Amino acid sequence: MELEGKVVIVTGAGNGLGLAIARRCAQEGAGVALWDMNAESIEKLSRELGVADARALPVKVDVTREDEVRAAVQTTVDHFGRIDVLVNNAGISRHKPLEETTLELWDLVIKVNLTGPFLCCREVAPVMKKQQYGKIVNIASLGGRTGRPGVGVNYAASKGGIIAMTKCLAKELGPNNIYVNSICPGTIYTEQTGQYPKEVFESWIAGRAVPKHGMPEDVADAVIFLASSRSDWITGVTLDVNGGIFMA
Ligand SMILES: NC(=O)c1ccc[n+]([C@@H]2O[C@H](COP(=O)([O-])OP(=O)(O)OC[C@H]3O[C@@H](n4cnc5c(N)ncnc54)[C@H](O)[C@@H]3O)[C@@H](O)[C@H]2O)c1
Repeated sequence: MELEGKVVIVTGAGNGLGLAIARRCAQEGAGVALWDMNAESIEKLSRELGVADARALPVKVDVTREDEVRAAVQTTVDHFGRIDVLVNNAGISRHKPLEETTLELWDLVIKVNLTGPFLCCREVAPVMKKQQYGKIVNIASLGGRTGRPGVGVNYAASKGGIIAMTKCLAKELGPNNIYVNSICPGTIYTEQTGQYPKEVFESWIAGRAVPKHGMPEDVADAVIFLASSRSDWITGVTLDVNGGIFMA
């Protein structure tokens, strides 16, 4: 029970990686605030995780909306009394070649993937500072490391931004005993990557040191490490979880 007694926020908890992360956090003994803009999915998950004994709290929030993020932090603190861990996981991809990437598509992806985590960090930081303790885990992406063609310039830039933001916040918040790290998952089958044709997805296995697909639980386990005291004294790092297709 690596997170016994801890309170964790997982954004984008309604699906894919976020859902697996929220489940693992609950298994490790945490109270979990399930943040997502899709209310139905987080209500379902909260019933599974134990809303009855107040262990899971569904919070409907669009992470791009400043007012909603502020209210979600308040709702979470009112319910649990503290916030130990913030997992910035909510994210989208809209991949097009450069010349087909409209300003609207650029803005949308930057807003969800970069502005959203910025707002969540900014609103959670005062709570963690008051506690003089906190762990922030930002879900970036292999695409932000490699700029792999096809991933989309908007997506790659947003995830590269997350990696830079992680380092900046690790330095700014470190004196308050707040740790900030990011994880770069390689391609994992979820609804988001399900947008790609099956043959494209299968082709990504080539070049991996470990030639198998990654599962959402592989990312969830890495989150548990960075969210728990097992990783104390690790801050500002980007952890690659990709079966060995990219090594920094
Ligand atoms: N799946 C992969 O292979 C992969 C690889 C690398 C990185 N990632 C990153 O992992 C994260 C999760 O990806 P996924 O594949 O599980 O996605 P997904 O589409 O399966 O789930 C994303 C969740 O985020 C929620 N969400 C989207 N926009 C939101 C907003 N504005 N406010 C609140 N909630 C919002 C959705 O409702 C959904 O429940 C993303 O940041 C993604 O970029 C995924």
